Amino acid sequence: MSNRTLAIIKPDAVKKNIIGQIITKITEAGFKIKAIKMVRLTKDSAGGFYEVHKGRPFYDELVSFMSSGPCVPIALEKENAVADFRKLIGATDPAKAEEGTIRKLFASSLGENAIHGSDSDENAAIEIAHFFSRKELLENYSS
Ligand code: CMP
Repeated sequence: MSNRTLAIIKPDAVKKNIIGQIITKITEAGFKIKAIKMVRLTKDSAGGFYEVHKGRPFYDELVSFMSSGPCVPIALEKENAVADFRKLIGATDPAKAEEGTIRKLFASSLGENAIHGSDSDENAAIEIAHFFSRKELLENYSS
């Protein structure tokens, strides 16, 4: 079991100016921020990140949305990070998300659902590497 996952505060949540509220929820749930940045994805970069969904009917819309404005990728650390983070964010469709989850609180639709969380340890490692170098993850820094 890995102790890392990748979150992305998506462009809808950045536009709503609720980055702080979402990060508070994440840290209150016991996740430690290993690395964080604000970036504007190009269509190519968003397309690469969501490569696994290529060919699905929502892919083009997803790539357009994810490159429509800045987003905030965050590398997170916690025991059982992937599963615990997916529980914290709730179902992909906010209408189906449990009360108190980040998507229930802050997302408006299936497409514009405020936050991303890795779905497996393997993908967490790939997704973290998409946004952060080893140096940015402070791999050699101990505290
Ligand atoms: P995310 O967890 O970032 O992973 C893929 C994204 O595709 C998902 O969140 C949704 O925002 C988006 N999406 C749009 N339409 C659908 C759909 N019909 N099924 C699943 N995901 C969808």
